[in-house]
Amino acid sequence: MNAVYEKLITCVESVKKKIDFKPEVALILGSGLGDYADDIKIEQTIDYTEIKDFPISTVKGHKGRFVFGYVGNVPVVIMQGRIHFYEGYKMSDVVLPTRLMGMLGAKKLILTNAAGGVNFDYKPGDFMMIQDHITMNIPSPLIGENMDELGVRFPDMSEVYSKRMQNVIQNAAEKQNLKLQKGVYIQLTGPCYETPAEVRACRTLGGDAVGMSTACEAIAASHMGMEVCGISCITNMAAGMSTEKLSHAEVQETADRVADQFKNLITEIITTI
Ligand code: HPA
Repeated sequence: MNAVYEKLITCVESVKKKIDFKPEVALILGSGLGDYADDIKIEQTIDYTEIKDFPISTVKGHKGRFVFGYVGNVPVVIMQGRIHFYEGYKMSDVVLPTRLMGMLGAKKLILTNAAGGVNFDYKPGDFMMIQDHITMNIPSPLIGENMDELGVRFPDMSEVYSKRMQNVIQNAAEKQNLKLQKGVYIQLTGPCYETPAEVRACRTLGGDAVGMSTACEAIAASHMGMEVCGISCITNMAAGMSTEKLSHAEVQETADRVADQFKNLITEIITTI
């Protein structure tokens, strides 16, 4: 058997031994947005360290566990802390948890992240619904022997971010009187923030926000037939766009400031999706 698939199955079986739960929706929480999982009706949590062969996240402020529970009546699995490529993992490990949640039964995936605003119309604290993405300098998570059990060798990516879900997000934002930006997310490797020249390049390419996650997970999920949507929290203007120097502290501060809006938005989305 393909080694990547074998590892995935080991992790899925390890989780299934600990919990008998079929999530409908999977949610990945971005930097600074992790508290959401503490507020749901929790059935059980599983630390990543408890799962055999599971890659472990090293970013400060990332909790590193799956939270299983209910948002309203909807059974969900939430990743509180994701795996980043810049931590040194292989891309297949970065997307392993996404695939795992899909294999537990989640048909829908909501991706969230903290991102730098590249579009001059944005400001810190805005939410951006991801309409499409661009990957820059990151390998595709699908490189290597194709896992036919999951999806086809050459998957179509013309609607990675489901139009149906985008409508749900838009309606949820309207219901909460929340301004919603819409745009293209560019994933770079990190861990350094971009240079001003890179940010200009991102803008020229058609990007509206930049970050270090999400697109790879969206690709893996889309490959295996999950319906995907994404929301970026614009925590700062990208490098060179303001006089501020970029720091993780600023990212965290902005995410904290809009945490309540974020929670309400996500809850509304999950219960109507
Ligand atoms: N660049 C990349 N990733 C980020 C940023 C940024 O400006 N802000 C939050 N995550």
